[in-house]
Amino acid sequence: MKYFYFLGLIVVLSSAFVSSPVTNQSQPIIKASMDRGKIIYLQRCMACHQVDGSGGPRLNPPLDGASTVKGNDKLKLVRIIIKGMTERVEIDGEYYDNNMSANPDLTDTQIADVLNYIRNSWGNKASIVTIAEVKAARTKIK
Ligand code: HEC
Repeated sequence: MKYFYFLGLIVVLSSAFVSSPVTNQSQPIIKASMDRGKIIYLQRCMACHQVDGSGGPRLNPPLDGASTVKGNDKLKLVRIIIKGMTERVEIDGEYYDNNMSANPDLTDTQIADVLNYIRNSWGNKASIVTIAEVKAARTKIK
């Protein structure tokens, strides 16, 4: 009887290891990136977008729940971080009067980190932004 419990345990344990190998590998990477990104966020972004990503009415857009933040257009996101934003554009049905400051001094790693933080904090969940993706995007940004 003990033998069958043991077999059952093996089956349960091995299925836990076999399932979703991608998540198991990328989880520590994104955690480390988000931890670094949080520090950048608190230093450079929080003043306008708030600690909880809620922004400020008619001034600064929320990042929590924002379609661009969670979306797949990573080039657009990298451009916003590097260049800032001064044009008055519609964001998820609203307009915001403030301008966003540019961050030309952030490295590719720092940009990936802050994007991983805002894309996976509060209610947001999105794919990892890699350093290679930021590097490639930067070459397309004038
Ligand atoms: C001085 C205030 C300010 C700071 C600091 C700031 N932002 Fe912004 N951000 C804005 C404003 C205002 C907009 C919208 C600009 C517009 O409508 O032209 C914006 C737009 C954005 C957008 C686009 C949102 C969307 O849904 O399309 C992202 C992403 C973003 N900011 C991320 C960041 C990150 C990350 C940082 C820190 C590196 C940061 N912002 C720092 C004010 C700021």
